[in-house]
Amino acid sequence: MGPRASCETWRTTYEGEDGGAPGEPRSDWPRGPRSGIVGGVSTFSLDSLEAPIVVAPMAGGPSSPELVAAAAQSGGLGFLAAGYKSADAVREQVQQVRALTDRPFGVNIFVPERDPQIDPTELAQYADRLALDAERLRVTLPTPHADDDDYDAKLEVCANEHVPVVSFTFGLPARAAIADLHDAGSAVWVTVTNPRDVRSAASRGIDALVLQGPEAGGHRSTFTAAEEPDRTPLLELLDTVRPTTDLPIVAAGGLATPQDVRDALDSGAAAVQVGTMFVVAAEAGTSRTYRDALHDMRLAPTCVTRAFSGRPARGLRNTFITTHHRWAPAIYPQVNQLTAPLRAAAGQRGDRQAVSLWAGTGHQMAKPGTTAEIFARLWPAAG
Ligand SMILES: Cc1cc2nc3c(=O)[nH]c(=O)nc-3n(C[C@H](O)[C@H](O)[C@H](O)COP(=O)(O)O)c2cc1C
Repeated sequence: MGPRASCETWRTTYEGEDGGAPGEPRSDWPRGPRSGIVGGVSTFSLDSLEAPIVVAPMAGGPSSPELVAAAAQSGGLGFLAAGYKSADAVREQVQQVRALTDRPFGVNIFVPERDPQIDPTELAQYADRLALDAERLRVTLPTPHADDDDYDAKLEVCANEHVPVVSFTFGLPARAAIADLHDAGSAVWVTVTNPRDVRSAASRGIDALVLQGPEAGGHRSTFTAAEEPDRTPLLELLDTVRPTTDLPIVAAGGLATPQDVRDALDSGAAAVQVGTMFVVAAEAGTSRTYRDALHDMRLAPTCVTRAFSGRPARGLRNTFITTHHRWAPAIYPQVNQLTAPLRAAAGQRGDRQAVSLWAGTGHQMAKPGTTAEIFARLWPAAG
């Protein structure tokens, strides 16, 4: 494969602050549903949320049980991120959330690709390109291997634990898995990025779609690693797909102000899913290096790159991206495995130039605060 064009950037300029003064949560908060499950049937409905805000699953640290519980206590819905964790660790986190709140919450699972196209030469060449970083950071690059991220075991944990909402990213769960989750009382959501995937997800009997636009921070939920993601802006995508399905749509990508939230709802979304604004939440498990970088690099442009994982993902453009972006092969999860020790070592050293700094186009609006305060900024009716 030849080199890729330079990393696509997308800087969004904001005129000023969002006008939603950070406030204390209302004293009568939360008033949402108290349980997601009654008699094996999911009672979870997006309509029951006090604030139509879903705190996105954010694998790699930010989605702590505390963040998920705080989202629920703020009148919205929070998600644990099962990606990159063992099934046992997911079960433990589910139990931790339950110890903190009796309100509904979700778990997000990565769907492994069935027959990914892997060119071992391309992978080896990319590993060679990472050798200098490995030497500088004093780590040994691992031998990449196929890995399904403990998928079946995670499905079992979610069913056994009767998780109120289970969302899927990077693909479609099989009909049998959806049926098992429905039997367990879980609502099933699928993250989609284009009209074709909306159609295939909707035909599978799921309960809601998470529609992710190109503005989104983190990975794009394309159903294969190799495809190039749709670049239609979120609101346009929403206009296109809204008339094609009766399923509730949760809109995600670059939403950073009350007006952004309002626009998505006015375009037919039942709720919004917000990630980047909550990376800096007090309750999030975000590393110090990432928090500081997001704050300090507020003016840095974001771009979409495969450099860290082999899948397209949006983050702040740092030296790792400018060095490796054009050579990164579309091979997942092997590229992610290769860069994992580099990212870990750089994170420990506080080296923000070699860690992934996932951020959506609205990242300049990310301001530290409690989850309740960030809710109040996004949905002032709550404040
Ligand atoms: C740090 C970070 C990690 C993410 N991890 C996941 C994940 O594990 N699963 C998932 O479905 N989406 C993940 N996303 C994408 C979010 O679900 C969502 O689409 C995105 O955050 C929305 O755009 P925004 O960040 O501009 O709000 C992640 C996003 C960020 C910023």
